[in-house]
Amino acid sequence: MNQKVLLFLLPNCIFGIFLFGFFCKRQKPLTRDFPDPAEDWLATQNDRKSTLASVCLKNNLLRSRSELDSNVASQLFVEHRHKFVYCEVPKVGCSNWKRTIFILQGNLNTEASEIEHDHIHQTTLIRKLVSYPPATQNEVLSNYTKVMFTRHPLERLVSAYRDKLLHFEPFYSITVANEIRAMFRKNRNSTGKVSFQEFVNFILSKPPSSLDIHWKPMFLLCDPCNVRYDVLGKYETLGLDSQHVLEVIGAPAGLHYPSVKRYGSEKRTDGDITLEYLRQLNTEQIERIKKLYQMDFVLFNYTMNYEDYFSPRD
Ligand SMILES: *[C@@H]1O[C@H](CO)[C@@H](O)[C@H](O)[C@H]1NC(C)=O
Ligand SMILES: *[C@@H]1O[C@H](CO)[C@@H](O)[C@H](O)[C@H]1NC(C)=O
Ligand SMILES: *[C@@H]1O[C@H](CO)[C@@H](O)[C@H](O)[C@H]1NC(C)=O
Repeated sequence: MNQKVLLFLLPNCIFGIFLFGFFCKRQKPLTRDFPDPAEDWLATQNDRKSTLASVCLKNNLLRSRSELDSNVASQLFVEHRHKFVYCEVPKVGCSNWKRTIFILQGNLNTEASEIEHDHIHQTTLIRKLVSYPPATQNEVLSNYTKVMFTRHPLERLVSAYRDKLLHFEPFYSITVANEIRAMFRKNRNSTGKVSFQEFVNFILSKPPSSLDIHWKPMFLLCDPCNVRYDVLGKYETLGLDSQHVLEVIGAPAGLHYPSVKRYGSEKRTDGDITLEYLRQLNTEQIERIKKLYQMDFVLFNYTMNYEDYFSPRD
């Protein structure tokens, strides 16, 4: 073979190998080789939405009336610049979402950590949907990106107990705590801290719709069967879901969801802590509490088998 032929064949050969490799790759589903995080995220969103839709249907939770319940409208925060509506579910990262909304509104030079916790919960900084006339409410609901976040119902319950009954916050640690002591303690002078058992019995003694927003079932707060949320975020995937929400609404690239924590030195309520508290309850209390949050479990696909859910995973 002379040199010319070789020079001609070599590139063809290389090209052939390249083509061969290319087609071999194409035969296998590309997603398995190169998982696309954005596609995965969308697929998870679609799973969450279809679970929700089928549970709503099965349990007759769809309303024909188009008007929004005012209790729900007062959980919804509106940010006009990015056409964003956020449903507040306390104990599911809501203070940090409110900080983010405050920054999105045009306070771009503020650092999230500079905004005090108590300050962000005063309603003058960001507006609630309930403060608009019904026609505007409907328009906002049909045009804006609507987002809600959920958390495992029992972890949220433990988090609410630790946050509200174990810290000094007068309304809860005095007023609510006194009401609970009066209900369950024979000794009227008893001033010891409200136990988790007492707290749970207190919650179980009330109609669900009258419960404080920190422990009211999440589906009653945000009415996900009738407000069509564009994003169903979870505390369990808070960082990822928040990042996608900011992307979807077109937030400035430099803005990140903050991770400010109120009681900085204390451990966040996690699986271990949740189990520790749940073990203080008897079987009947567990069953009744599962029943109270049953819709939250099924609508948002959380398992009631919490022992497995919270046992150490690596
Ligand atoms: C429900 O949750 C389980 C466990 O987290 C998950 O494996 C499953 O894919 C979820 N199902 C749907 C339809 O989202
Ligand atoms: C909202 O959407 C409606 C149509 O569904 C449109 O007529 C209206 O102009 C939109 N409003 C805003 C503020 O974008
Ligand atoms: C409660 O306190 C009052 C007055 O401080 C006292 O007279 C009473 O004996 C106390 N009761 C009990 C059950 O300790």
